[in-house]
Amino acid sequence: MSPQPSSAAPRHVPVLPAEVLDALAPAPGQTIVDATVGAGGHARLIAERLGPTGRLIGLDQDASMLDLARARLAGLPVTLVQSNFDELATELKRLGIEKVDGILADLGVCSDQMDAPDRGFSFQQPGPLDMRMDATLGEPASSLLARLSERELADVFWQYGEERFSRRIARRIVDTRRLEPLATTDQLADLVRRCVPWPKGRRPAIDPATRVFQALRIAVNDELGALERFLADLPRCLKPGGRAVIISFHSLEDRRVKHAFRERAHWQALTRKPIQAGEEEIQNNPRSRSAKLRAAQLVTEDPGRAGRAS
Ligand SMILES: C[S@@+](CC[C@H](N)C(=O)[O-])C[C@H]1O[C@@H](n2cnc3c(N)ncnc32)[C@H](O)[C@@H]1O
Repeated sequence: MSPQPSSAAPRHVPVLPAEVLDALAPAPGQTIVDATVGAGGHARLIAERLGPTGRLIGLDQDASMLDLARARLAGLPVTLVQSNFDELATELKRLGIEKVDGILADLGVCSDQMDAPDRGFSFQQPGPLDMRMDATLGEPASSLLARLSERELADVFWQYGEERFSRRIARRIVDTRRLEPLATTDQLADLVRRCVPWPKGRRPAIDPATRVFQALRIAVNDELGALERFLADLPRCLKPGGRAVIISFHSLEDRRVKHAFRERAHWQALTRKPIQAGEEEIQNNPRSRSAKLRAAQLVTEDPGRAGRAS
């Protein structure tokens, strides 16, 4: 049985919805992939524009998110597949689809995953230290914390979280695990908070546990490896002139997307600078604050035919 999301109705609010539609330009009869279908917010907006002859293929590696998306997308021309997006080419082949008109990826985790204490993504509620997006595969965060050396832990916190106190935190984890296993989110969050000095006289702007939790989640799910394999596969999954739209939430992801779309042999950029949310969206949906959208079009045989969207 898949782990349960926090409620039956999705809580996740899609970021940059108008900008996604503008960049992806879905049209009746097209086949579009939402590689991170999540709670189905973007997918619904896209599928509504595809008409009865179009089709949206929605991928997610998290079975509980597919359950949410299924309810939200009922009645629309949608096929949902549980898969990592680094398997996109294989999944399309399995569905008998050679190439598609557009591909969206909205990276990271949904609010619904963050809010489910049993998933262990959030330091704000006690729960088991799991953090796997596919709860049936790989190693939970608690097992990584028990297995990695002090040096490896420090590298994870530094490389994926840019945590300045990575070594101190790694040392404290190794000392602690000699006495008791680190098994819960509140145990780890408390440990990190005790290692990181607070700025004098004021609360830190973000909880000191934020960067360590982000880093562990990236490591547990091999998020950067999956993103690199996905980016490398995109050109063979898209029709010439097809569009790829990627929303990232931290510089480690955005750097990889920017680099991939610079490959002139494949891509004509549709966004010179990443598109970011305006003040109003940030107020209504604080998660959109760090979102960066980049879009590119697969070059046709005649590069002159691939026009700029904006
Ligand atoms: C930010 S949410 C997407 C939200 C969605 N756009 C919406 O409007 O509801 C990201 C989703 O991508 C999924 N995900 C993250 N990395 C993935 C990967 N490598 N392969 C497949 N799904 C992934 C997560 O499980 C999560 O449900």
